[in-house]
Amino acid sequence: MRKKVIAGNWKMNKLLNEAEDFVTDVKGDVPSFDQVETVVVAPFTHLHPLVQKAAGSDVKIGAQNMYHEDSGAFTGEVSPEMLKDIGVDYVVLGHSERRELFAETDESVNKKVHASFKHNLTPIVCVGESDEQREADQASEVVEAQVKKALEGLTNEQVQDVIIAYEPIWAIGTGKTATAEDANAMCAHIRNVVKSYANEEAANRLRVQYGGSVKPANVEELLGQSDIDGALVGGASLKADSFLQLVEAGK
Ligand code: G3P
Repeated sequence: MRKKVIAGNWKMNKLLNEAEDFVTDVKGDVPSFDQVETVVVAPFTHLHPLVQKAAGSDVKIGAQNMYHEDSGAFTGEVSPEMLKDIGVDYVVLGHSERRELFAETDESVNKKVHASFKHNLTPIVCVGESDEQREADQASEVVEAQVKKALEGLTNEQVQDVIIAYEPIWAIGTGKTATAEDANAMCAHIRNVVKSYANEEAANRLRVQYGGSVKPANVEELLGQSDIDGALVGGASLKADSFLQLVEAGK
């Protein structure tokens, strides 16, 4: 039985006081970490204060990106070591917005995945097809290639700790959700892809989230599927009450 992970990806939203109020509001009400992993994925400037606000609670804090090097002449970048140093536990890698708007590639995502393990951060690796790729019936192969490249070179011990977020691009922020059956089929496909090059046990432990217009009204059906182990949520994670409903559904 895989524990569900519900992560709220705030993207570039909220000022610091709003972010702190949010964590103050939810931290006493989220289920225990043993029941469900609750992660707030916040902008860099909010991470340290949020780690402090969340201390001693069952809310964990994640970053939305990082660079793969430990330190050096990389103006504007943030390293995994810096994230770990301030108490961040998770990092979202290869989100489609970063791939589309900031030229992230499967190769850079793979380097970041390795760097996350070097510094004991749990990677949430995003994959997903575009509308055009879906229309052209290429969704399975696109996702398969992304998964294979992102996880290239990992040991079985590392593979089992990876979280993959399947986020079809056409469902992000559009209100269009994949049907629970279709989302489940792709999440199962992802696990099978992992099984083709990591051992069965590691592939069965790895968790696959669904993301794309997840909200309180559809979360239970999605999380009720055999191969959906959580959700990566944008819009519906911005309000404390709807976020709490989402994490409750993960119990
Ligand atoms: O990373 C989460 C995201 O891309 C999905 O966004 O607003 O459709 O839940 P949203």
